Amino acid sequence: MNIGQVSKRVDSISPFYVMDIMARAKELEEAGRNIIHMEVGEPDFSTPKPIIDAAQRFLDIGEVHYTKAQGLPLLRDKIANFYRQEYLVEVSPERIFITPGASGALTVALASLLDEGDEVLTCDPGYPCNDNIVTLFGGRAKPIAVDASQNFQLTGADITQAWTPATRGVMIASPSNPTGTMVNRSQLDDIAQTVKKHQGFLISDEIYHGLVYGQRAISALEISDDVFVLNSFSKFFGMTGWRLGWLIVPDYAVSAANRLMQNLYIAAPTHSQYAALAAFSDETRVILNQRRDEFECRRDMLYDGLKQLGFVLLNKPKGAFYIYADCRAFTDDSYTFSLELLDKAGVATTPGKDFGISAPERYLRFAYTTSTERIEEGLRRIKAFLAGW
Ligand SMILES: Cc1ncc(COP(=O)(O)O)c(C=O)c1O
Repeated sequence: MNIGQVSKRVDSISPFYVMDIMARAKELEEAGRNIIHMEVGEPDFSTPKPIIDAAQRFLDIGEVHYTKAQGLPLLRDKIANFYRQEYLVEVSPERIFITPGASGALTVALASLLDEGDEVLTCDPGYPCNDNIVTLFGGRAKPIAVDASQNFQLTGADITQAWTPATRGVMIASPSNPTGTMVNRSQLDDIAQTVKKHQGFLISDEIYHGLVYGQRAISALEISDDVFVLNSFSKFFGMTGWRLGWLIVPDYAVSAANRLMQNLYIAAPTHSQYAALAAFSDETRVILNQRRDEFECRRDMLYDGLKQLGFVLLNKPKGAFYIYADCRAFTDDSYTFSLELLDKAGVATTPGKDFGISAPERYLRFAYTTSTERIEEGLRRIKAFLAGW
């Protein structure tokens, strides 16, 4: 490597194409256009008041110091209790790490597990940072193409077929970004058993748990203790900007995760940890459940509307706040289509090419992180746009 050059690892990291869309949306807004934002992957709701109040009480004291690398013991106890109540599983607080978002959890998990050249099976389409972080820690992501016929989720058969002597583990997400689809208990069991048979690791991204409609999400911890589970206060708890998440590791990785937290982060943000102590209260839960119900109404409205307009849709996604719409009826280049949709109709979406290389040009991700009124208006605008397409 020469002076003035960045590392080959970083060089191989792809940009987010949605940033082009967001930059263009901003330009249009500055020029006075009204833009409907369906590209954004974060709740539009503000952080629940009991959480803000808890942070304010803590900040009033002014003692904002580092916490233990693993996180506040009281918060880890509350998370352990959350697993007891929601999933009926016992998780020792010793295995729980408070991290800077699920992003921090992802780095700690992958840094604990990967050696140079280790292969990790990931889902395509999937959350793009997974593959990039695998690369950053010297591994090689091997994206497996999944499609609508398998609900956009990996199966045990996919894993067996893709496994090579270099493969070390598998990453899944349920509900998934960008598709909102989930694995049920028997599918998760199949995945966990297959990974175990190959003596690999399983990382289960459960960041969209809580934002699940008409059913319950299964945690990988209900199937096995020998899994890495990541979750976050960002999505269901409405705390994206607080940068707080958590990671649960098997016993054998506790010491590694501790050393990594110390070295990479020292600790997660202290004020956010104190704020999150209020995230599990009954008062907060009432607010979060109302928001979940609102997301469900939005999903129904957007799903029905897109279907009527001719987008090809899978069964209604059961979780998260995304619809991954097949736009083959209109284009074979969803990136250009989304730029045109923004320019001509003022509706911002995320092109499929942000989520992998498996037929991304056919797909657009719509996020229902905006009000029902805005979704209705967005659908009206898309209809008019398609009439002239
Ligand atoms: C599937 C998935 N995992 C992890 C993250 C990271 O979230 P955060 O770091 O805000 O917790 C996101 C964010 O969009 C996501 O969609």
